[in-house]
Amino acid sequence: MTLDLFDSDQPGYAQEAPAEGVVLLRRFALESDQSLVTAIESVARQSAFRHMETPGGHVMSAAMTCCGELGWVTDRRGYRYTQNDPQTGEPWPEMPRIFRELAVRAAEAAGFPEFNPDACLINRYRPGAKMGLHQDRDEQDFSQPIVSVSLGLPVVFQFGGARRSDRPMRLPLSHGDVIVWGGKVRRHYHGVLTLRRGAHPLTGDCRYNLTFRKAG
Ligand code: SIN
Ligand code: FE2
Repeated sequence: MTLDLFDSDQPGYAQEAPAEGVVLLRRFALESDQSLVTAIESVARQSAFRHMETPGGHVMSAAMTCCGELGWVTDRRGYRYTQNDPQTGEPWPEMPRIFRELAVRAAEAAGFPEFNPDACLINRYRPGAKMGLHQDRDEQDFSQPIVSVSLGLPVVFQFGGARRSDRPMRLPLSHGDVIVWGGKVRRHYHGVLTLRRGAHPLTGDCRYNLTFRKAG
């Protein structure tokens, strides 16, 4: 299903429903793309992008930072949310208002009118980086959806089932696309395939992903 929606306060975006519980809002973030990238850069000046280590000792190929009351981290001790950036010892940077407004608006458009994100993970992928299939399950409240924003180079997103072995569907994501999932599929496996080389006018040789969640 694709609906093209045009009205005064929401210039064109197209809504797709690739699977039950999954809503893809094509180009939803396009109108604020420049401000979003500026806000990412400002968060990264306070809490720099870094390659975190998994509990199994692998260094993640995507570089990460966070903003909001809680930030997601991984190291040899495990995955968890923290109030402070372990690298600076300071609280994670405040969630920029433009981030929160976008996430709440996207959730609402996708049928989740009560979304109240307290955590935003920012992933930065350079060519060759990827994110293997995983579940987002370190949050307290699974009634709230996940809102995931793509900026810069395109990538293929994988959305699977409740088991890692369930064959994932492949969804190409482009600059400005927002994908929202929740309800029964909230803990489904997902990831992104290896980022291919390219040059994007706004982000250069990278793709950013903003993942909003209610973690606490
Ligand atoms: C993630 O699930 O953590 C990131 C997905 C993406 O980069 O689109
Ligand atoms: Fe995820």
